[in-house]
Amino acid sequence: MSKPERLYLSSPHMSNEGYELAYIKEAFDTNWIAPLGKNVDGFEHEFAEIVGAPYAAALSSGTAAMHLALKAVGVSNGDIVFCQSLTFAASANPIIYENAVTVFIDSDRETWNMDPNALEAAFKKYTPKAVIIVHLYGLSANMDALTELCKKHNVPIIEDAAESLGTTYKGKKTGSIGEYGIFSFNGNKIITTSGGGMLVGKDKSKIDKVRFWATQSRDPARHYQHSELGYNYRMSNIVAGIGRGQLKILDDRIKKKRYIFTQYKSMLSELDSISFMPINLWNEPNCWLSCILADKPIKIIELIDTLEVENIEARPIWKPMHIQPYYKNYDHIGGEVSEDIFNRGLCLPSDTKMTDENINRVCEIITKVLNV
Ligand SMILES: Cc1ncc(COP(=O)(O)O)c(C=O)c1O
Repeated sequence: MSKPERLYLSSPHMSNEGYELAYIKEAFDTNWIAPLGKNVDGFEHEFAEIVGAPYAAALSSGTAAMHLALKAVGVSNGDIVFCQSLTFAASANPIIYENAVTVFIDSDRETWNMDPNALEAAFKKYTPKAVIIVHLYGLSANMDALTELCKKHNVPIIEDAAESLGTTYKGKKTGSIGEYGIFSFNGNKIITTSGGGMLVGKDKSKIDKVRFWATQSRDPARHYQHSELGYNYRMSNIVAGIGRGQLKILDDRIKKKRYIFTQYKSMLSELDSISFMPINLWNEPNCWLSCILADKPIKIIELIDTLEVENIEARPIWKPMHIQPYYKNYDHIGGEVSEDIFNRGLCLPSDTKMTDENINRVCEIITKVLNV
């Protein structure tokens, strides 16, 4: 018997109109098959406008964007950087690339993101060079409370908005609130370029410097001269063409992601053994992934296994960094909120190509497993 149609968490979804291919064709026609060109410049300008940030640099990944954001704030050997523990490893790894020291901060239940109380406690113990705040699954962090604390201690904020392109916090786009914001266009993100990232910021000279570092730090000389360490982190003009096309349909993708979340919420509302990711009054999330919490961890394992048998992809919430084997010796400030969310949390298929019938299929299985 053939398997039922595969349902994905979040897979690439190109425009029906072929916008991406048109930009790629132009790059081919003009022979700009390079890590610079009209699509790279266009993508940076169009992206900056959409997120309400003055300047943007298109890079090869979100991880590269985080690395250069840390360099832009001056993080180096031995510096402390606070980082939300409940996140993907790419938020924290670039801290280690710079031989700096990460201190992980717990989340709160109201946002699933950095807990201002834990951040306050961390400031009593350490003097960090930067604070990395993540907007997980497209939910915005409690930016007013977190910004107030960082301002008080005069420490810059890097927003990890890899998952929250289009999310607004009190009317402001996430990624545009702190000193720097980073975004990812990895294949599973709300818009994708196959792989890629963007760093946005308020200081033109710093974003120019980021472009310099990302292009092997080539000094302006006739010969190849380097007075600083460089990186090959620039986005290609082909990839940027995909990004420009995808930006045109970002609003449609956000609408669909929100629709999927609303459908899950209404169809699973009868189940009292689960709750949904928190949507605060200030938060207009992009609902990149629809996530639930079960009352017991064992139900999450059962659910993932049963959905997999039915050819449906579902995944646990990110495992917090402070309990990752690699990071076990780094300090963690706060309680056990992120661990609890990890133990009881599940990301449901949130693919923008899903039909109502597909969503029904997922809900029927969840209801069957949890009603027993
Ligand atoms: C929260 C978070 N930060 C950073 C990244 C890194 O982005 P990239 O995969 O483009 O390097 C991702 C996604 O992959 C992410 O989900």
